Order: sequence, then structure tokens, then C-alpha cells
Amino acid sequence: MTTTERSREDVTVDFDVYDQSIAAPIDRFQERAAELAAKGPVVYSTAYGGHWIVTRYNEIHEVLRDAETFSSYPNNLVTNEAFGKFIPIELDPPEHTGYRKALQPLFGPARMKKLTDEIRDVVNDLIDGFAAKGEAEYISAFAHELPARIFLALMDWPIEDAPLFTEATDVVLFGKPGGTEEESLEARGIAGMQMLGYFQKMVDERRANPGDDVTSQLIHTEVEMQDGLRLLTDEELNRMFFLLLIAGLHTVQGSLAWAIVHLVNNPGQRQDIIDDPDAIPTAVEEILRIEAAVVPGRRATRDVELGGMKISEGEQLILMLCSANRDGDEFDEPDELDLTRKPNRHLAFGGGAHRCLGSHLARIELTIALEELHRRIPDYELVESDPPVFHASQVRGCVRMPIRFTPES
Ligand code: HEM
Repeated sequence: MTTTERSREDVTVDFDVYDQSIAAPIDRFQERAAELAAKGPVVYSTAYGGHWIVTRYNEIHEVLRDAETFSSYPNNLVTNEAFGKFIPIELDPPEHTGYRKALQPLFGPARMKKLTDEIRDVVNDLIDGFAAKGEAEYISAFAHELPARIFLALMDWPIEDAPLFTEATDVVLFGKPGGTEEESLEARGIAGMQMLGYFQKMVDERRANPGDDVTSQLIHTEVEMQDGLRLLTDEELNRMFFLLLIAGLHTVQGSLAWAIVHLVNNPGQRQDIIDDPDAIPTAVEEILRIEAAVVPGRRATRDVELGGMKISEGEQLILMLCSANRDGDEFDEPDELDLTRKPNRHLAFGGGAHRCLGSHLARIELTIALEELHRRIPDYELVESDPPVFHASQVRGCVRMPIRFTPES
């Protein structure tokens, strides 16, 4: 048995994962994360009624692999209970298992292969929109649009519907910019309904006229659930679609943005991938490592000891994947970007039962995006007078990033 030497008070820190003042400049969040990790593998914050923060690679791995002790509901510190659970991310095994299986056809190798060509087309379409101008607001013109369109391609829904999602998802996730809390809540409700309305329309269409598309397949395939072999209900389908959309959007958007910043700051390594695009898949892993976007949440289902601390049943934890990915016990020179790093067992996609279902898709999106950006506008730079705007939350990311480059002729 391990003895617990330190008390909760000894490791109490002042840290709020949603505090926007730690979002910028880009290094600030990581600096704060490193300070927490230096204090201990498991520290405590009084924010949001009190919660634990797990900072080190081994302890995070331990939590991710033990879904029985560490429930995934709620996954967010700020949760609207009335909304219910996100499927499958907030369900624990065995309830989780059937839904996860139901989603597999979306991400199988044949499907990923087909999507690869579509992704390259979408990437080049988006770059066409700004390449001749010599400047762009990279997030709205590219990094936000790409995953929104790919979500539609993934579902076999019309890519032309992307603008519907662009605004609605931002409102659902971040509320009304500049609005009061009440206004934000109302705007979120309306935008949420709008998105669910769209999903329901797609379900109705494919229920009535099933095709060989993946949505029809999801609707018409019986899955082994806890209550027996059955079809998924509209409610279950809509909840899954909602999660798929938000899971793939700001994560990819953030990673695309961090890629630009780190490559601007490391011109030699940027030149290496311009000269040798075959090096890009390995480089993508390093981009994912150095700035993991997600800070997943868990709740202890029993009293448990972790990293020398006593965690009580019912207490919440957040997992700082970004600091696990910079843990010196796992990675040499963890704060340095090394696009050739191997092995690179980063935890940006989590681990265990909930390991990211979209990880292959995300890797393909990032790889193709970096290939085409470096082929077409390789000398991009940030704009000093208009620096990027990052945001802090349990999915960190970037909301604005003006860039300049030599126009394509
Ligand atoms: C760079 C991009 C991405 C990153 C860093 C990322 C990261 C993660 C992480 C850390 C988790 C686990 C969360 C937890 O344990 O609580 C997760 C789960 C998940 N991700 Fe991703 N993700 C990315 C892209 C995507 C994409 C493109 C999709 C699909 C369109 C996707 C779909 C999902 C789903 C469905 C889950 C839930 C899996 C489950 O509960 O079994 N992700 N992701």
C-alpha cells in the first residue's frame, strides 16, 4: 500500500481550464500546465466546486485505462444536465460498447481510403479561395471549414450544407459572442435545435429512401445493445451525430493552427517537410504531441488512490493530455518540436475504451492539409500586428489566425 504523504491542501493550485487569460500567448497554457505538473502528478483546483487535475503521463494512462473506477460522465466540468449524455463519449462500458461498435463502419479502412480523395479535393478547393490573394484569415478560410466539410463527407451528407454548421456549432460551443449569459444560453438552445433539426431531416430522408451510404447503413443495421439486438433510435442517432460533429471540429481546427505556429517558429524543420513531403505523417504525430487539444474529464466511482493522493467517490478529475505529452519521463526534450520524433507514444487521442474513434480520419486530414499547404503556399508567415487568438477550454484551440504568403500565380 502506498502512503499518502501530501494532503489536498498541499497540492491545491489556482487553475481554471476555462480562463481565457491563460489562452494567449500560445505558450501560456503550456507554461501553466508545466507548473501544475511540477507540483505533482495529481493536484487540486477549487474551481467549479473543486476537482482534481492529473498532470503526468503514467497517471493519465492509468485513469484512461480504468473506465470502471473513472467514469466518463460528466466529461466536462461545466455540464448542462438537462441536455443528457453525449454518445458514446459520456457512457461507460458495458453501455458504451454497443454504440462504439455501431460507429465502426464510419471509420473502417475502406471508408478512410475513399475519404482520402475527397479530403484532398476539399483542401485544394479551400486553398483556391485564398492562394492568389497572398493573405488569409486561416481559421475561417481553412482550418474551421475543412473539418466541417469532412464531417459531411464522412456522413455522406451534402458538402454544400457546411455553412449551416459553421456558425451553429460555434454558438452551441461558445455561446453568443459579447452577449450576456442569458442571451448566450438562449442562442445556444436555438443553434442546438437547428443542428438537431438538420440531423433529423437526414435521418428521415435515409429511413424513407435507404441508399448504400454510411448514414443509411447506421440507421438500418441492428446492433448488439445491452437490451438486445436492435436498431438505433432517432434520439440515439442524433446524439451520436452531434458528438461526431463537435469531436472532429475544434480538435482538427486547433491542430491545424498549432501546426502553422510551430512551423513558423521552426523554419529549418518546415523546409525539411517542404523538401520531403513523405516526412509529413511523422511530423503530424509531433504536432499532435506538442499541443494536445483535449482535456478530458472523469468522475471517480469509488474512493481511490492516484499519484499519492486520495480521491473520494464522486469527485471529478481532468486529464491534462497536453502535459502528459510533455512528460520528460516519456519524451526526450519534451518541449522541443522534433518532426522526426520516433517513437512518439503521445496521448493526444486519449487511450483505453474511449480512445479517439476519429484518429485515422484526423491524421489523414492533417497530413493532406500540410502536404497541400506546403506545396502551394510554403512561405506563410503570421501577421505581427494581428496575432492569432487562442481559446482555453476542455477543447483548447484557435479562433483567429491571419497569415501572409507569396500569392500563387
Ligand atoms: C486532432 C484531432 C483530434 C483529437 C486531438 C481528438 C482527441 C480525442 C480524445 C482525447 C478523445 C478521448 C476523450 C476521452 O477519453 O474522454 C476522443 C474521442 C473521440 N473522438 Fe476524437 N479527436 C480528434 C479528431 C476526431 C475526429 C476527426 C473525429 C470524428 C469525426 C473524432 C471522433 C471522436 C469520437 C466519436 C470520440 C469518442 C470515442 C468514445 O467515446 O468511444 N475525433 N478524441
